Amino acid sequence: MRSAIQADLLRRRFADAGQEHVFAGERSLDVAGRERLYAALATIDLGLVAEFQRLTRGPAAAGVAPSRFEPAEVFPLRRGPSELAEERRARQRGAEMLRAGTVGWLLVAGGQASRLGHDAPKGCFPVTPLTGTSLYELFAQKLHAARARHGALGPWYVMTSEATDVPTREYFERERYFGLDPRDVVFFRQSMVPALDTAGRILMAAPDAPFLAPNGHGGLLAALATSGALEHARDRGVETFSYFQVDNPLAWPSDPLFLGLHALRGARMSSKVVKKRDAAEKVGVLGRVDGRLTCIEYSDLPATLREARDERGELVFWAGNIALHVLDRAFVEDLTRGGLQLPWHVARKRIPTTAADGVRTEVEGYKFETFVFDALSLAGPSVVLEVAREREFSPVKNKDGEDSASTARRDQCRLFASWAARAGIALPPPDVEGLHRIEVDPRFAEDEAEFLARASAKPREVAGGHLYAP
Ligand code: UD1
Repeated sequence: MRSAIQADLLRRRFADAGQEHVFAGERSLDVAGRERLYAALATIDLGLVAEFQRLTRGPAAAGVAPSRFEPAEVFPLRRGPSELAEERRARQRGAEMLRAGTVGWLLVAGGQASRLGHDAPKGCFPVTPLTGTSLYELFAQKLHAARARHGALGPWYVMTSEATDVPTREYFERERYFGLDPRDVVFFRQSMVPALDTAGRILMAAPDAPFLAPNGHGGLLAALATSGALEHARDRGVETFSYFQVDNPLAWPSDPLFLGLHALRGARMSSKVVKKRDAAEKVGVLGRVDGRLTCIEYSDLPATLREARDERGELVFWAGNIALHVLDRAFVEDLTRGGLQLPWHVARKRIPTTAADGVRTEVEGYKFETFVFDALSLAGPSVVLEVAREREFSPVKNKDGEDSASTARRDQCRLFASWAARAGIALPPPDVEGLHRIEVDPRFAEDEAEFLARASAKPREVAGGHLYAP
């Protein structure tokens, strides 16, 4: 139990910082409640809070000046002869890296999935069209598939946050790690930071709890280092991390081309992009500011740049970030050795809180996050690889409409139907939406080539569609 002296010290520290209101509900708490309050407050870095206040009080970030932003150089989807030759070398190199077991998977799954409105972590969300396999299980199947194809693969690092950590671990336990060796799955937690109201006061979620939110996926870098996961990676011989987000069922973290290009070009951090669907699509855009590669988040891209078109009427800034990156372990070590701090991004939001009288309400406030792609400008050499959206990107972000579970299921059916059509296989009859309901388990085929090689296999009839599974 915390001593009265420690509680007094805490009270004084918060009072000195003008944040004494965090104790306003203390009297209504029992002993255990007070302990919870003190323990949570002790994790708050008041120096950081002061920095957050400066960020919200200073002039609003102007965003990138249009004259300084230029398109990034991209390894294109439509390749000329020299690119085709490089592609061949890169595929070989990438396959060697996978075979050597030096590639570790790095999944960020600490987000709160607030737009999806799903209670459990997003990774538990059923996402495949016929079997309703969850995102976590689907990725586990992809890992099995990559192992079978390449003979080896490094461990899988999964970043969680306070909200997703316990339910994620429990889910993996309950599902017996989907047949993976638990020693190959390493969970580590990102840090939480407070949110502020418009007057710069720390918001309270309840009388015994400040409102804390994950510090953004940029928190990954510090969390890798402080949790011991980075050391684990070094000990296990991981040289390269293949980074992906939990929301994208089409993510392909063991793509030999991407890994190989990154290595051949001596890059330290690389990115995949797709052509933006339209100017308004909510994806970040890869480009250069003052010659340095960067990703400008959709909310920070001025309308003139968002809408800019070339003489053929095509978007100038078309290279949409699909959040698939490759990072060298040594780069992460360099970044974290000196206590690097990525820039904070401020988002004004409605935040659930508890008023002094104990009534739950929502107030206007600020949340703070760092973004992993801000490390791009520190990476030096970097590859930006264009890939086909229909093959690699269909995120589940919203409850309905674009980028929802239903578009993700539709896009999976369309992709697998295109493989089946190429193989000349009879498709199941279209459903009411005109979709041929097909699902391909990654352990059956990881890509079209593998599917074509196994096209003689009979599918199983499941939920009115065709399931190809081992
Ligand atoms: C993100 C990218 C955007 C990109 C798009 C592609 C950001 C800020 N923007 O947008 O450039 O075009 O994906 O789909 O990321 N996460 C954590 N911890 C956190 C916050 C997020 O692990 O503190 C994870 C989430 O679990 C999720 C991913 O990061 O896997 C994306 O986060 P989200 O906030 O949903 O980003 P988007 O706005 O969708």
